[in-house]
Amino acid sequence: MKVLVVGSGGREHALTIGISKSPSLDRLFVMPGNAGTDEIAENTPGNPENPIEVLEFVKKEKIDLVVVGPEMPLVLGLADLLREEKKLVFGPSSDAARIEGSKVFAKELMTQYRIPTGKARIFSDFNLTKSYIENLKLPIVIKADGLAAGKGVVIARNHEEAEDAAYSMLIEKRFGDAGKKILVEEFLTGEEVSFFVLTDGKELLPLTSAQDYKRVYDGDEGPNTGGMGSYAPCPWMKNEMIDETLEKIFEPVIYALKKEGHLYQGVLYGGLIRTDDDSLKVLEFNCRFGDPESQVIIPLIEGDFLGVLASVAEGDLKKAPKIRLSKKKAVTVVLASGGYPENYRTGFEISGLEKASSMKEVIIFHAGTKRIGGKVVTSGGRVLNVTAVAPTYADARKKAYEAASYIFFENMHYRKDIAERVMNH
Ligand code: GLY
Repeated sequence: MKVLVVGSGGREHALTIGISKSPSLDRLFVMPGNAGTDEIAENTPGNPENPIEVLEFVKKEKIDLVVVGPEMPLVLGLADLLREEKKLVFGPSSDAARIEGSKVFAKELMTQYRIPTGKARIFSDFNLTKSYIENLKLPIVIKADGLAAGKGVVIARNHEEAEDAAYSMLIEKRFGDAGKKILVEEFLTGEEVSFFVLTDGKELLPLTSAQDYKRVYDGDEGPNTGGMGSYAPCPWMKNEMIDETLEKIFEPVIYALKKEGHLYQGVLYGGLIRTDDDSLKVLEFNCRFGDPESQVIIPLIEGDFLGVLASVAEGDLKKAPKIRLSKKKAVTVVLASGGYPENYRTGFEISGLEKASSMKEVIIFHAGTKRIGGKVVTSGGRVLNVTAVAPTYADARKKAYEAASYIFFENMHYRKDIAERVMNH
């Protein structure tokens, strides 16, 4: 089978490594990829957000299966275009990808199908929003409807902040059309967890849970990022809770998408919160694998990963090869450019990769890296993900941090408290 992975981050390197082990793989391309994917696959230049460019490559190379990593190409209709050309795609239609691409769509779907989630009201008029906010209990969550590069959710601690957030989205158009509609949502308290299922639009195959670290500094300080580290599985998400989550959240949402005629063949990522009564509610859905959660989940999958992705894309998960989730624990630490998630410089040479990746049970996933001559240099905010897989969280954490200590680039920054809270599990 000839496969193309679309994307260039740590998630796509994890997908590439997972796919590369399959006995049914003949050739593996990544568009555009990074210095890590370049070692095990063929990087090809191209813009994932230009569906025509991707299609042309797929036709030219006679690709059998396209695996789409990030959300934006899916929201823009890449999977639809490829399916029109009878190509196999792992990734939902643009209609179904609205589950991530439109918070209003997701909230309405959840409300209609009674999927547990926070209460919310939808607004497009600032004055109506303002009078609604005035009497609300604090804090208040304001969410832009569309994709806003991770900046579209504001947790307002007072009414003025909530009003300002609504003003900047609805009146100042801070996020353009993505903020034409907003959600004013109740604030839920509890611990967050991510859960991932594969679905062909009818059947589902649960993978596992993970927890990530969104803030840039230790102790959850500083601004939000794409994710500074992660571990899997979540220690308190036991089988009983998983069964209940599948029954109350994932089965109904897959049923709802099918019933409403939205083709979903891919991975569904639930961003969930554990509320006081020990049940889970949906904070958000994403239409793709998590990043850096993929860097701890994919290494735990045993079996023919590509075979399963292909069955999802064929709409026939029932005939997928059997996979198993390892009982081991995985921890990943993100090595970021100094200044990330704000301004940062790139082009710094990275050293120590060989020593770090030669460690047993350690995998270095590249994200913002590129090869120039014989050197690997930084090219993004999140540069590398240092993952370790071991029998305990404590072992995995120790190994990941030891491997990270061998790596260096100028202004390198990483959190020192990833997986600290699960060390004794
Ligand atoms: N780690 C958060 C995300 O992938 O959206």
